[in-house]
Amino acid sequence: MAKEISKCVLLYSGGLDTSCMLKWLQETYNCELVTVTLDVGQKKNFKEIEEKSKQLGAVAHYTIDAREEFVKNYVNHAIKANALYEGEYPLSSSLSRPLIANWGVKIAEKEEADAIAHGCTGKGNDQVRFNITIETLNPEIKVISPVVEWGMTRIQEIEYAKKKGIPIPVDVSSPYSIDANLWGRSIECGILEKPDVEPPEEIYEWTKKPEEAEDKSETIKLTFEKGIPTALNDEEMNEVELIMELNEIGGKHGVGRIDHMEDRIVGLKSREVYECPAATIIIKAHKDLEKYVSTRHEVLFKETVDKEWAFLVYAGLWIDPLKKDLDAFIDSVNEKVTGEVKMKLYKGHSMVVGRKSEYALYDLNLATYEEISTFDQKLSKGFIKLWGLQSKMSRLVSKRKEAVQITL
Ligand code: ARG
Repeated sequence: MAKEISKCVLLYSGGLDTSCMLKWLQETYNCELVTVTLDVGQKKNFKEIEEKSKQLGAVAHYTIDAREEFVKNYVNHAIKANALYEGEYPLSSSLSRPLIANWGVKIAEKEEADAIAHGCTGKGNDQVRFNITIETLNPEIKVISPVVEWGMTRIQEIEYAKKKGIPIPVDVSSPYSIDANLWGRSIECGILEKPDVEPPEEIYEWTKKPEEAEDKSETIKLTFEKGIPTALNDEEMNEVELIMELNEIGGKHGVGRIDHMEDRIVGLKSREVYECPAATIIIKAHKDLEKYVSTRHEVLFKETVDKEWAFLVYAGLWIDPLKKDLDAFIDSVNEKVTGEVKMKLYKGHSMVVGRKSEYALYDLNLATYEEISTFDQKLSKGFIKLWGLQSKMSRLVSKRKEAVQITL
């Protein structure tokens, strides 16, 4: 097999799959292995991961605390784009992939490695995201997908691990495939593959069961500056902390559980379950504030742009120039998304219950039904005649066939 690889960077999670890979790659390609693990808020013991990597023969290991970078360069764009794939999924895993790929390439270049390996299967979206990003950033680097190449079943993998002295995780019998970062936690496989069965409570780690969540509602206040959350309940916070705090608060109220049928890039329909308390709350609040300060034309056009943005990012095309083009429009609209939003959290729900902004296009004097109103209601009469003109005309034409004359 391909002997031409002398050094390979492995995107390493520390789990069973990538640990088997670490050994398998050394044996199959007879090359040196460098591992890299990014901290994107998945709350793992990174010291332990590093030790495991060294123990399994890696010549070097990198632990990168990428939480700030993840929020600033990825999550913040998603907030401004109100990004929800197919109207439901806040793209938590999707957003982290180009970041991880970026670091993989940086380290491969530094280490003069000629390949990057990842733990993705041939059925999912992550392979598409990793490969496209890596191959675009550095076409010289070969991308290896051991899961696709080795064709081992789970049982065979465990056997292989035992034979090679690879530590077997305590949750090895768990049927679920989990991925987590600051923006959310995804759970797939096992009983979840039956779309008609309600997800068992055991899959959730971040959120309380709504029925058993706090009996008292909680109202929080989020402050935004140019589309980005900067304070929680009037306390200015580093954004990584703000998101972590909101995951806690939302989770306590059972907010952010998502169960939907997702259309994967490769065409499969798949049942995906997520816990995304902070993302759910922030996107809802942001969208509300954005509407408050934007014109109707901006609001309606932006819905189309946001949808396209979410699709591109989901589909692994973070590096496509169209994404940057859309970002320019999205950033421009967000210049005025500054203000506050109050959200009420209660038993699985998050509701907007108030908003405030110096850029609001709302005018109490115009909107009020009280006497002080400055809106001249008589103007509506003429407006309505003109607004419905073409619709009326069309109806008459289709009814009469001959030419129609409307008198204004
Ligand atoms: N379906 C989600 C996505 O494509 C989650 C993927 C999670 N990845 C994983 N390796 N478990 O973004």
